[in-house]
Amino acid sequence: MTIIRSVVSGCGSYLPEKIVTNAQMEDMVDTTDEWIIERTGIRQRHIAADNELTSDLAIKAAQKALIAANIDATDIDLIVLATSTPDQTFPSTATRVQAALGMEKGAAFDVQAVCSGFIYALATADNFIRAGQAKHALVIGAETFSRILDWKDRATCVLFGDGAGAVVLSAQKGEGTNKDQGILSSHLHSDGRYNELLYVDGGVSSTQSTGYLRMRGKEVFRHAVVNLASVVKEALEFNDMTTEDVDMVIPHQANKRILDATIRKLKINPDKVAMTVHKHANTSAASIPLALDEMIREKRIARGDIVVLEAMGGGFTWGSCLIRW
Ligand code: UT7
Repeated sequence: MTIIRSVVSGCGSYLPEKIVTNAQMEDMVDTTDEWIIERTGIRQRHIAADNELTSDLAIKAAQKALIAANIDATDIDLIVLATSTPDQTFPSTATRVQAALGMEKGAAFDVQAVCSGFIYALATADNFIRAGQAKHALVIGAETFSRILDWKDRATCVLFGDGAGAVVLSAQKGEGTNKDQGILSSHLHSDGRYNELLYVDGGVSSTQSTGYLRMRGKEVFRHAVVNLASVVKEALEFNDMTTEDVDMVIPHQANKRILDATIRKLKINPDKVAMTVHKHANTSAASIPLALDEMIREKRIARGDIVVLEAMGGGFTWGSCLIRW
């Protein structure tokens, strides 16, 4: 049976120039380099310049992904951009990227699933491609989380950073088996009962202000390990695979201890798990494409490899995506 698959034809990322180290955080809040490293694995984060917006980061990542894919922006017929820190309440940040890339056709919109945003965006674009409604799609995760941090709250401000990553998905024929190249499956979940464990205390309709990120870290941590391990298992079972078949896991980069606990739960070789949280901190929807791009540049992913992406974030939302590279 011939079907359409979405193949990753290019990847790119961008990090703002400014780096803030843990030592610099010590000057802002009552914290220490030792505490941050021991509890999170984070050593530094990139922070956008005052005049740099989420769309600026997204555009730079998208341009690199287009070059890597060797595809002109005018050949893109869909942009799905994941962000919780858009430039404006409306229009979407995706349409700003569309205009900046010189595209005059196609569709562009944002998706909002916080740290799971990139998986949600990838699954959305994949469905458009498999339905024959797009041939080449840009999927972007871009965030300026520094803008929604309470820089007086040591429990949250040390954890996050800014950045963007993008992939180009291209339609390709497949046989409908797990030997096909491209996205083999994606699995999305949410449970709105957990809103108050991780949220922003402002919004257009509620306070007419942006608000600040609030988190009950310990509870989020506990849910993250359970949900991430289960959604990776779901993807493997769906494709008749085991952890032995996996060549690389690209997890959302929130906390090294969450990654380590998930690795132990899944009994997967740590060498097969991308780890960039020490350099990037938690960049929400940008963290997976940032890590993915780094793994590609380090040549740790080869054609034919099985790559699993997984994330969990506010909502709660969580999801995974299994790709044959
Ligand atoms: O991306 C979306 C998903 N988000 C996550 O996955 C985040 C999940 N949660 C976490 O990563 C961890 O829970 C944190 C890193 C946020 C916190 O680590 P923890 O081991 O759960 O620490 P805790 O919140 O229980 O705090 C332990 C202590 C507290 O002091 P007391 O009450 O024991 O005296 C905090 O006040 O650490 C204190 N503390 C800090 N100390 C120094 C909290 N933040 C800091 C800080 N520096 N920055």
